[in-house]
Amino acid sequence: MVICSRCKSNEAITRIAYAKMNLCIECFKKFYVNKLKKTIEEYHMINGEDIVAVAVSGGKDSVALLHALRNAYPKLEVKAIHINLGIEGYSKHSQEKVEELAKQLDVELHIVDIRKEIGISIDDFKKTKFKGKMCSVCGTVKRHIMDEAAMNIGANTLATGHNMDDFMTFMVKNFITRQWNQLVKLKPVVPPLMSGMPKKIRPLIKFPAEENMLYCYYTKIPVNEVECPHSKGAKTLEVMKILNELFKDEPNMKYQVLGSFLNLISLLEDAMKEEGVIPCRKCGFPSKDGLCSYCKRIELVKSISK
Ligand code: AMP
Ligand code: FES
Ligand code: ZN
Repeated sequence: MVICSRCKSNEAITRIAYAKMNLCIECFKKFYVNKLKKTIEEYHMINGEDIVAVAVSGGKDSVALLHALRNAYPKLEVKAIHINLGIEGYSKHSQEKVEELAKQLDVELHIVDIRKEIGISIDDFKKTKFKGKMCSVCGTVKRHIMDEAAMNIGANTLATGHNMDDFMTFMVKNFITRQWNQLVKLKPVVPPLMSGMPKKIRPLIKFPAEENMLYCYYTKIPVNEVECPHSKGAKTLEVMKILNELFKDEPNMKYQVLGSFLNLISLLEDAMKEEGVIPCRKCGFPSKDGLCSYCKRIELVKSISK
């Protein structure tokens, strides 16, 4: 039996390779919540007066984030946002899990059902030129609605559950395709793009997917285990698989590469200050040419569904 390196009494259930520790269930949960606090403090993500909206999809990362954030800062004003994307065989189940968790944690939950509120679903994009890029168009819609929902509930901070693997994957993808303007957006904290919009924080930037999964498992919180039908074969998943293989025997290297990327991003950012943005004529959000990407996509899908 391997003994926990922290309490030296219970049986260890996991090895945290980069920290060279074996941890039991209770010590792992404490380690996770402490690591979250340290990350939030390191990047000055939250101050005492902030009202934080956590975007909860129902997947392991965002449910772990909401649960651990409540544990780490019991006095912080936290609300949850869930978007029902109208994806057949997936969205209903996700919403149920988020409702269950919010009830368990006694957190105010705001649900945006895009079929009811906008009159479209993500599945409708299958009939458009975006049919081969469902995750990408869904991302544009989600980002817009998350910002809008956070503003509607009076939150000045929007927290999402992007994990370390998500970051590494986006970084590598944008690096290879030279999407420098996308690369500079990959930061732990993104200040509001326009006044009135929330600041964005990604407190799980240093949490590999497995740690979030373990936290959900050992805290027994409700998680949606159904996979989104549109994610099959997505390019990002392929990149993620390759990266996981690369770092399999060198878990420390993952942190080093993440650190190097974050350095590179701040250098890049200085070199290319964000191009000017103007308000979208339809929704008022930032846009390059007067109509934001979200409004362009909603107009398109509505014109096809008529
Ligand atoms: P994804 O874009 O699916 O990788 O999700 C990244 C993050 O966006 C999640 O960790 C959540 O914080 C948030 N998110 C994704 N989908 C939803 C949703 N349907 N409702 C609320 N938040 C979401
Ligand atoms: Fe957006 Fe799957 S959740 S395409
Ligand atoms: Zn717009």
